[in-house]
Amino acid sequence: MKIIALMGSPRLKGKCNRLTQRALEGAASAGAETRNFELIKFNIKYCLGCGTCFLNKPELTIGTCPIKDDVRLILDEYVQADGYIFSSPSYDMFCTALIKTFLERKIALTYKSREMFGKIPAARPGIAQNFMKKASFIVTANCDDTLEEVMGEPCYEAFEAHLLFEEIDTVDKLYCGGVENMTDEEFEARLQKAFDLGKNLVETIRKYRAENS
Ligand SMILES: Cc1cc2nc3c(=O)[nH]c(=O)nc-3n(C[C@H](O)[C@H](O)[C@H](O)COP(=O)(O)O)c2cc1C
Repeated sequence: MKIIALMGSPRLKGKCNRLTQRALEGAASAGAETRNFELIKFNIKYCLGCGTCFLNKPELTIGTCPIKDDVRLILDEYVQADGYIFSSPSYDMFCTALIKTFLERKIALTYKSREMFGKIPAARPGIAQNFMKKASFIVTANCDDTLEEVMGEPCYEAFEAHLLFEEIDTVDKLYCGGVENMTDEEFEARLQKAFDLGKNLVETIRKYRAENS
């Protein structure tokens, strides 16, 4: 079982990455192989909206994109993984532009003929997972936990968008509010929650597969 994280904070030593790393430790404790894609380390260019990736070659699992950067290598591992942790700080009440840029490029996992414009895109071969793969989310923010709906929900929705046609459902959502003035003790409790999230992701995938395959 392989769990990958798509980590959208530019601060590699920040709270979002520390929670993500701890979540992956939780996944590893349940027997998963893990990898943390700290997206800031990769060359991820903006989608140019040309449509090449989703308009052509419906037989491919990943549509070809004319942009030469690191997205293809991330997507190659993405399609091989069994579970996902999407994490981001809240920036202007949304996920960071860094992870949003990656999320837009995931449209290469869909196919849409011109006749299908106006409809939801179709998953490319091998992409629709019939819920055998699952995802969990982590969002950090300065606004405290009472503001999860305002700061966290828009991020969850962005993460979930493509998961709809990938047929991947969400297990846990961890909102960590008040990060900038949190005591070490308080943060330690959140790290434990992150560990549990990672562990639970693996256990939930395993249980679902045992019951449904
Ligand atoms: C450009 C920018 C915008 C931000 N916008 C918000 C916001 O809308 N709501 C909020 O609660 N915190 C906001 N913050 C605070 C970050 O969410 C917080 O610093 C971050 O979650 C900490 O995670 P990190 O340690 O990984 O950077 C913002 C921070 C920056 C730099």
